[in-house]
Amino acid sequence: MSTQRYTKTAIILHWLIGALIVFMFLLGWYMTELPKDADKVMSFDLFDLGIAQWNVAQEMSPRTFYFNLHKSLGVTILALVLFRIYWRLSHRPPALLSSLKAWERKLAAGGHHSLYLLMVLIPVAGIIMSLYSKYGLQWFGIKLLEGLDNKDLRETFAEVHELLGTGHCDAGGISGACIRGIETSLD
Ligand code: HEM
Repeated sequence: MSTQRYTKTAIILHWLIGALIVFMFLLGWYMTELPKDADKVMSFDLFDLGIAQWNVAQEMSPRTFYFNLHKSLGVTILALVLFRIYWRLSHRPPALLSSLKAWERKLAAGGHHSLYLLMVLIPVAGIIMSLYSKYGLQWFGIKLLEGLDNKDLRETFAEVHELLGTGHCDAGGISGACIRGIETSLD
């Protein structure tokens, strides 16, 4: 008998990763606009919204704080995506509608595979970019990698990170619109 529903874990991972990725785009655009020469502080009013305060152990500029947050969440997302891939491979998803044509099945599979690939490649490009920066990589205050301080390679991977991000928005929009429509066969 074919599976009728996605597992709870798959549904939670889907929405959690989706929400985090949207947040990462907003955070990425926000943080790159911050000035490099701002005063260092130990307390941050998150996004200046007056809703939540985040205190850190060491003084830093808002730019450093938000870059560190972006990197930490990005590494977390990569771990969640890898777990999601494992889950997807070990738990059969619901079948597509039997009425779908061959090209529609190929489109659904292609869209899904591209999104999975981008969900891995975007954070990986971000991690390599950080590795080639002078700051390296940290995860919520824990140092993971020392920076190699190579400006050219940092800039190359910054371009790749940005280009893949644009690709993700495009693929996400197109796939979201058409794949969801043809794939949700069970409502
Ligand atoms: C799904 C995960 C991620 C998404 C959606 C994402 C998205 C973005 C976006 C939209 C920007 C702004 C691009 C620009 O306009 O220049 C950005 C910048 C950046 N991201 Fe990510 N990112 C992700 C993961 C990561 C990870 C894992 C790291 C590193 C560990 C990282 C490091 C950076 C850095 C350092 C920048 C600033 C680049 C610069 O200085 O121009 N990102 N990211």
